[in-house]
Amino acid sequence: MMQPRQLRYDDVIIDIINDDYTILPLLSRFSIPLGLGNETLNDVCRRNDIDVKALLLVLNYIRTGIIDSSYISVVSPLEVVRFLKNSHDYFINYKFGHIRKNLIAALDLETNPTNNLILKFFDSFVKKVEDHFRYEENTVFPYVESLVDGKKSAYTIEIFERHHEEVVDALAELKNIILRYYRTTAPNLMYDVLVDIYNCEEDLASHSDIENNLLIPMVYDLERKSKK
Ligand SMILES: [Fe+2]
Ligand SMILES: [Fe+2]
Repeated sequence: MMQPRQLRYDDVIIDIINDDYTILPLLSRFSIPLGLGNETLNDVCRRNDIDVKALLLVLNYIRTGIIDSSYISVVSPLEVVRFLKNSHDYFINYKFGHIRKNLIAALDLETNPTNNLILKFFDSFVKKVEDHFRYEENTVFPYVESLVDGKKSAYTIEIFERHHEEVVDALAELKNIILRYYRTTAPNLMYDVLVDIYNCEEDLASHSDIENNLLIPMVYDLERKSKK
């Protein structure tokens, strides 16, 4: 597959979506409304009061895996924090409920002892992610906000870096049961749920990549500057 090119300010947003629709969730988490007309990234950002550099940094990183390091010190980490909070909200208040509902509909209608096990695995995965997000929202993000405000704090981003675990592993067991051992009277529904679970897994992994490879370096940079 050809390596996608780096996006620029003057790219027309609809062309980018037609080229690669997987950026749609990223646009929604930057709170970019639809009704995109023929606008460029720059137009849309200016109209909605979004930092175009923050958008380009995230979009290009997710598309190409390449980080424009000159952006790390000019984009405010608050832009990334806002994006991450919107992502948490999407998973907790929309995506997990959606998958759970479809999962229940896809379970075997006959009495099947595995039904309960499947729901139990899913619920324990959600619980793990909720705990993970809660720590970030109650500890990490407020720390970043206070650092931007120039306040002193005992916390450092290194603590988060050491503490930050993968959450997607918890989905492996669930996928394993369904793929290897499960028979259902509603196979079409279950195939759809599996696609959703794989998507969700990828989405959570890139969420985590943004925290590790964009937010953490940005905050290190800010910590260095605020010590001077
Ligand atoms: Fe997060
Ligand atoms: Fe995280």
